[in-house]
Amino acid sequence: MTEPQHQILNGRKFHANDKVAYLLPEDNDEKDRLHKQHVVLRYTLQSNFQAPLQEKLEQGITVLDSGCGPAAWVFDMAKDFPNSQFHGIDITSTFPHDTKPSNCEFTVANLAEGIPYPDNYFDYVHQRLLILGLTDANWDFVLKELLRVLKPGGYIELHEANLNNMGPLLKQLQYTMSSMLQSKGMPPKISNELQERAIKAGFVDAQVQITDLKLNHGGQAGKMLWDDYQHGYTNLRPVMAMSNAEWQDEELYAIHIENCAKEAETMHTSVNWHTCIAQKPF
Ligand SMILES: C[S@@+](CC[C@H](N)C(=O)[O-])C[C@H]1O[C@@H](n2cnc3c(N)ncnc32)[C@H](O)[C@@H]1O
Repeated sequence: MTEPQHQILNGRKFHANDKVAYLLPEDNDEKDRLHKQHVVLRYTLQSNFQAPLQEKLEQGITVLDSGCGPAAWVFDMAKDFPNSQFHGIDITSTFPHDTKPSNCEFTVANLAEGIPYPDNYFDYVHQRLLILGLTDANWDFVLKELLRVLKPGGYIELHEANLNNMGPLLKQLQYTMSSMLQSKGMPPKISNELQERAIKAGFVDAQVQITDLKLNHGGQAGKMLWDDYQHGYTNLRPVMAMSNAEWQDEELYAIHIENCAKEAETMHTSVNWHTCIAQKPF
């Protein structure tokens, strides 16, 4: 099991372990961001899940949230479906250890080293926003692991996103991020590859739904989503600055992001939210 190792960059706490590819910090500010992000996503997507499992969740099934972060999704789902059992795993131990509903369990684990559960254990696996955490090889390995821990007929639901209609400033930010991901062997366009990778791992009936979410335009939801993107970009600055020296300057970087906000509003930039649902064969 990966031992936690950290480094402080510009006052922010990051993973420092060659077995962990994750690029975002793992401190309280990032934990708060992930909580808020969950609320924004539930509001914009108007649901916590899309797999056809409403009835089964009500009756009681076993669910895994892979890369659960501070457990906002798990807690919401555990409250809505008290007969179901929810398990969360994450490399960062930001989920609550003691104060948690009785139908929730959490484990610290590096997905890249295997899912610490037996074969055929879960009815449903949910995994959201691992783009900054898994290398190309990790994705294939993790999907195979998720297939292994699912029961035959069980569902996987994967969520990743990309941006559309970007102006030049946002393109520069995204280009820097993509180059950084590529240099670390991480696929920058994973949202477009979910279906193909799920099938390659052995899943069947893989379907993708793409939802167009407005970024910083079109009312309250667009503003909330931009606030989350802005916060995420800010938290990535220490690693972005390694690829673009200009962004060592906190103020210059903040101005660039502010200008991206205006640009997204005028350009009608959108987030293409990809949801891939697939089944383990019977
Ligand atoms: C952007 S956050 C999303 C959290 C959560 N899925 C959500 O949507 O609220 C990505 C999460 O993946 C976790 N993560 C990244 N790489 C991981 C790995 N190799 N093993 C386990 N968790 C990982 C991070 O610690 C972080 O909590």
